[in-house]
Amino acid sequence: MLELRTLEADDWPLWRELRLAALAEAPYAFGSTLAQWQGSGDREERWRARLSIPGAHDLIALLDGLPVGLASGVPGEGAPNVELISMWVNPMARGKGVGDYLIQAVARWAAERGATGLRLSVMPDNLKATALYERHGFTDTGKPGDLLPDGVGRERVMAKSLAAV
Ligand SMILES: CC(C)(COP(=O)(O)OP(=O)(O)OC[C@H]1O[C@@H](n2cnc3c(N)ncnc32)[C@H](O)[C@@H]1OP(=O)(O)O)[C@@H](O)C(=O)NCCC(=O)NCCS
Repeated sequence: MLELRTLEADDWPLWRELRLAALAEAPYAFGSTLAQWQGSGDREERWRARLSIPGAHDLIALLDGLPVGLASGVPGEGAPNVELISMWVNPMARGKGVGDYLIQAVARWAAERGATGLRLSVMPDNLKATALYERHGFTDTGKPGDLLPDGVGRERVMAKSLAAV
């Protein structure tokens, strides 16, 4: 059974566990690194701040009661856009629709709060995630995303209209 749970700041240990697992398992997928969130970067107030972004919606997915995935919707620049970030599904739970479920939930939440568009940034070589996003109607905006660590490439910025959600 697939369920979603909305997290608050007090749930930071659960978010921390999943987010550290995501950064360790899929470093190629995120702008943040595991090193930035370990050691002196691994502090309760920092995790609480991450779960206290004004107007944000932080979700985890539970498969048969086990936390297996996470994603957030955060107010984007140029509201009424919402940004989909921190998307990850545990490899053991992939290919079961967890990613679909998380995207749909963030899109629904964004539409309910009046957002007209959902945007995200994806690494240009992350073909699996890109395929998932395309399946959900995201298209390339052509806008330059954040610079990659190589100082040359950029993240790919994709967006979809929420008119039909
Ligand atoms: C990208 C990612 C989130 C996808 O998660 P997921 O839960 O496997 O996604 P879904 O299950 O919704 O879809 C993945 C595949 O499973 C298939 N699928 C979905 N539901 C299914 C079901 N009930 N039965 C069988 N297959 C199913 C989908 O069709 C899709 O197939 P495809 O890849 O051949 O197109 C996951 O691979 C991940 O965490 N990757 C690393 C982190 C990452 O890249 N994050 C994105 C940052 S921008």
